[in-house]
Amino acid sequence: TPVAAVIPAAGRGVRLGPGAPKALRALNGTPMLIHAVRALAASRHVSLVIVVAPPDGTAEVKSLLDAHALPERTDFTVVPGGDSRQESVKLGLDALPPEYGVVLVHDAARPLVPVDTVDAVIEAVRDGAPAVVPALPLADTVKEVEPAPEAGAPEPVVATPERARLRAVQTPQGFDRETLIRAHESVTDNVTDDASMVEQLGLTVVAVPGHEEAFKVTRPLDLVLAEAVLARRRL
Ligand code: CTP
Ligand code: MG
Repeated sequence: TPVAAVIPAAGRGVRLGPGAPKALRALNGTPMLIHAVRALAASRHVSLVIVVAPPDGTAEVKSLLDAHALPERTDFTVVPGGDSRQESVKLGLDALPPEYGVVLVHDAARPLVPVDTVDAVIEAVRDGAPAVVPALPLADTVKEVEPAPEAGAPEPVVATPERARLRAVQTPQGFDRETLIRAHESVTDNVTDDASMVEQLGLTVVAVPGHEEAFKVTRPLDLVLAEAVLARRRL
């Protein structure tokens, strides 16, 4: 069954600081979004990439896709995004043709994910999992706190979950098409990833090994790391 990838790229990148929308900022001279699109299109299983662009930037995204060398075997669609990531993914799914039975959702802000990680997620969905997430063990101990009303004020610690049972979850997350569409139609709470919507349907989500280089470019230091990784790859 053919595989499509939806790439939400409509965020502003507030935590990165002032500038262009995050997905359009350059990493070693090439827009982050183009790195992300190449990373997904590098999988020979992925035959369609749907880019969810900043609402005022669809024309710019289309011309970027035209201007950069991308695999011939992959089709590209650009749609305008929404106010939240969840809304943007849903707008991407609205543009998904019926023949795609497997859907990946991948943050444009994870431009360096290796193709082996992409293929591992696809394989686990094809093996029958309705939802698959790439995940890594944590380096830091994680504490649950009672969030303080003002930023910077001390916060009481409520609990310390056992670190060995925790995972940091990345993208691409992979789904059986019907499952993801149903999740987006029925779950309306604010969520930070797509798999949690499938969990809310009562289905089992499985984690496969993620990769360090699939980290999310979120803050200025992440740009330094991303450019260093690219330099090491000589891109
Ligand atoms: N995203 C989106 N539409 C939104 C918000 C986010 O498509 N309304 C996308 C981002 O472009 C990004 C991915 O979702 O590729 C993950 O979001 P995040 O890292 O939070 O990016 P931003 O929302 O752009 O960053 P910030 O939260 O710092 O503003
Ligand atoms: Mg955000």
